[in-house]
Amino acid sequence: ALPAAPGPHRARATAAFLSLAGTVVWHSDPQRFARLYEALWRLDRGEDALHPADPQAVRLNAMAQAVRRDMHKMKAFVRFRELQGAGARRRFAAWFEPDHHSLEPTAPFFARRFGDMDWSIATPALTVRCVDGALDYAQGGAPPDLPSGAGGDASEALWEVYFANIFNPARIKLNAMRAHMPKKYWRNLPETKLIPEMLADAEARVQRMHEAGASTPRRGAAAISTRYRAAQTPPEPPADLAAARLDAQSCTRCDLCGPATQTVWGEGPPDARLMVVGEQPGDEEDRAGRPFIGPAGTLLRASLAEAGLDPRDLWLTNAVKHFKFRRSGKRRLHQNPTRGEIEHCRWWLGLEVKLIKPRVIIALGASAAFALTGDKSPLGPRRGTVEQSADGTPVLITWHPAFALRSEAEAAARIRAEMVDDLRAAAARAA
Ligand code: URA
Repeated sequence: ALPAAPGPHRARATAAFLSLAGTVVWHSDPQRFARLYEALWRLDRGEDALHPADPQAVRLNAMAQAVRRDMHKMKAFVRFRELQGAGARRRFAAWFEPDHHSLEPTAPFFARRFGDMDWSIATPALTVRCVDGALDYAQGGAPPDLPSGAGGDASEALWEVYFANIFNPARIKLNAMRAHMPKKYWRNLPETKLIPEMLADAEARVQRMHEAGASTPRRGAAAISTRYRAAQTPPEPPADLAAARLDAQSCTRCDLCGPATQTVWGEGPPDARLMVVGEQPGDEEDRAGRPFIGPAGTLLRASLAEAGLDPRDLWLTNAVKHFKFRRSGKRRLHQNPTRGEIEHCRWWLGLEVKLIKPRVIIALGASAAFALTGDKSPLGPRRGTVEQSADGTPVLITWHPAFALRSEAEAAARIRAEMVDDLRAAAARAA
């Protein structure tokens, strides 16, 4: 029970509580303030109310997660339509139906991104207008009468053409699509009316894509796309692992995203003490969307077990998040990533390290060692030694399990034994 009339008392809130509360307050649950108050009251009494295993903390974290997801959806699915009229600045308006009170915390993002135009977003509960960069809130209501895209709005028509062209029928995963773009958003998205038609033609398009094979880009195209990517500074690094994982799904920082089936993000507990970094997903990982489930992964997992480590306690990831391969008949043969590809993908790896804060990172093989330390010298003399990642986390260098799989039996046994020794040493250091 909560204390009745607490009287004047200065409660001490921790930074973690304030950060959590700053997100939970936007949840639609009418009990949100009561729940936060209860947690603050317990903290004030010296209880560890935000311990990850505490049922109240679990609920508050889930609420914060739901708000972050809702804000992410708003950033991804708001579609502005241009309003006609005089004036020096172009004007746009959008209608959106969030699950939580996400408009207010998300509006500054739109203000930063669309600083050169005036815009408004209406939702059932609240409307925000941004005029000359100043945000102004008013009550929400029914959907406003916005100009329809059909025929009138040239930018919307252009977006539809673009959407239809980037649609890759080989990648359709209806369940994943519904998870990322729930159907409730479809009715307000101009491009979704194209989906049924594109799905109907999907199988034939996959067949045509396979028959045509990959086309060779024009000379100079690679340099242009590199410059283009360099110019694209990420608007805001994702705030947590769930958002990072979602953003990474649409990564186009290098050309590997084209042929690969999907981004293979890391997996494991978000507070893992040990992080294991491989080179890149293989054929099986690429299809399943999970790291280390193929032959090299099986050997890694067995070696971890031998070193007394449960893979479920570790964060398993790769230096490069897309499978790089060349086709040989029906087979897809692994190819080493280039330095450039590793460097492009380092942004994601750095983010994983920053969010998980492992005590020790294990680099499997030369690509992972280069991605983490920036040192591309040969692996042999470095194996079993501890170096440092860019942020100072210790990096224990060891063999990649695929090296053992490629070697003759005797060498393979030695490589495997050394790898197990190194894993044990990493575990001891992280303990
Ligand atoms: N090899 C790797 O380096 N990573 C995987 O996920 C699978 C194989």
